[in-house]
Amino acid sequence: MFHCLSLFFYVLVLALSLTSAARDIATKAATIPRLETDPLTKLAELVVPYGYPLDVHNVETEDGFILTLLRIPHGRADVEAASSAKLRRSVGTAASRPVIFLQHGLLDSAAGFLVNGPGRSLAFLLADAGYDVWLGNVRGNTLSRSHAFLDASDARFWQWSYDEMAAYDLPAMMQYALRTSGAPSLRYVGHSQGTTVLLAALAGPTGEGRVPSQRASDSDAVAKGAPAVPAGVVERAVLLAPVAVAKHISSVPLLAMAAMGTDDMFTLMGLHEFLPSQELVAQLEGRLCVVQPYLCVSFLAALCGYNPSNLDITRLPLYLGYTPAGTSVQNMAHWAQAVRARAPNSMRCFDFGVNCASFSGRCNQRMYGTIEPPRYNLTAITTPLAVFTGTHDRLSTPLDLEYLRESLGPGVVKLSKNLEAYEHLDFIWGIDAKELLYDDVLRFLSGDDDDDDDDDDMGSTAANRGSSAAL
Ligand SMILES: *[C@@H]1O[C@H](CO)[C@@H](O)[C@H](O)[C@H]1NC(C)=O
Repeated sequence: MFHCLSLFFYVLVLALSLTSAARDIATKAATIPRLETDPLTKLAELVVPYGYPLDVHNVETEDGFILTLLRIPHGRADVEAASSAKLRRSVGTAASRPVIFLQHGLLDSAAGFLVNGPGRSLAFLLADAGYDVWLGNVRGNTLSRSHAFLDASDARFWQWSYDEMAAYDLPAMMQYALRTSGAPSLRYVGHSQGTTVLLAALAGPTGEGRVPSQRASDSDAVAKGAPAVPAGVVERAVLLAPVAVAKHISSVPLLAMAAMGTDDMFTLMGLHEFLPSQELVAQLEGRLCVVQPYLCVSFLAALCGYNPSNLDITRLPLYLGYTPAGTSVQNMAHWAQAVRARAPNSMRCFDFGVNCASFSGRCNQRMYGTIEPPRYNLTAITTPLAVFTGTHDRLSTPLDLEYLRESLGPGVVKLSKNLEAYEHLDFIWGIDAKELLYDDVLRFLSGDDDDDDDDDDMGSTAANRGSSAAL
């Protein structure tokens, strides 16, 4: 019942955003008081009032996108500890804080790791545990909508999918974080698409066809199929609700999109931003909240599924202020392709098709030099991984996960947990995420892999050791 209504809401939003009538409504709705419009100011409201430092960095990718990279360099309690650590660093002795890089999911932004506030959201827990926390924002989200020479109103601004995020966005942001902090390597936590882009970046292509990173770079290393992010950069990574192979997804909106051909999607929605009228989506959601609080879920929730019993209803208006954060139609089409893919299942680059006279004017031969889109070689990944999934997750399903585990080399997944009744958004919004999930995440990040042999006491001792070593 609930999901049917979500679907109805989705169809409504989609229909409205696709018709010119939407513009009239948007004009009328403009009289309703709105939330703060500047996305960065709005995001800072999640951090600064609580006494945490927030640094804002702009990072330009090799293909010209200007991304907002956020940093919470230390926790609230250790302002003084931080300044003394800085002092030590400036005289070139003591170790600095370990860098942790957090990467959000589809239609989300860095806000996903912050919205539940200190003591609950992962970014704050990590900062308080002694990490130097960096939060990525991939191209096209509300915080990363600039380009060196393209305007977001230009269709060329939106011609990318998660392939380009893996090829350009992650390497640029990671290099920047390491250079700025002076750390030799980093640890990583990704949610949903944030896991996909890491896997793609670490895997590299199988060697057939030129992948996106090779289009920009003439370097021999990339041409030989080296990964976008070299193995040594990421020490260990946590995958929250990973989506790599998407064959068994049961998200209704995604299945609806998968039923459409890629060219149909481009023809229908244009080769632009997906759901361009974000303001309209926000308005509709806002009205829905007044009329029927239980229907007041974000578009992201309708797409991904969430667990009403593990959702703090009072925080819904807050969530709605930050999602959906925007992506391209091509990226949604790539997800639709992943859902549609026939066996053998694998992680593939965006399929432009073989028709070089297509709507988009692009085809596989032109883009990759091959008829089939290149595949990512997951076997090449050597980074130790912890994988957290939910039994009720409609995007990250057990069957797809089993395939992912088989595709990865033996011994790469060091820790794997399947959380009872967890849905896709519980990993970031869940009321009990700290107790059921983040404590384990911190333990793994601190370097304690031997989950099977551990009892809780040993685990927490190790975690304490990890954080005090960090300080
Ligand atoms: C994938 O990577 C592994 C390990 O580096 C390598 O042995 C294998 O040949 C690669 N497979 C393909 C199809 O490129």
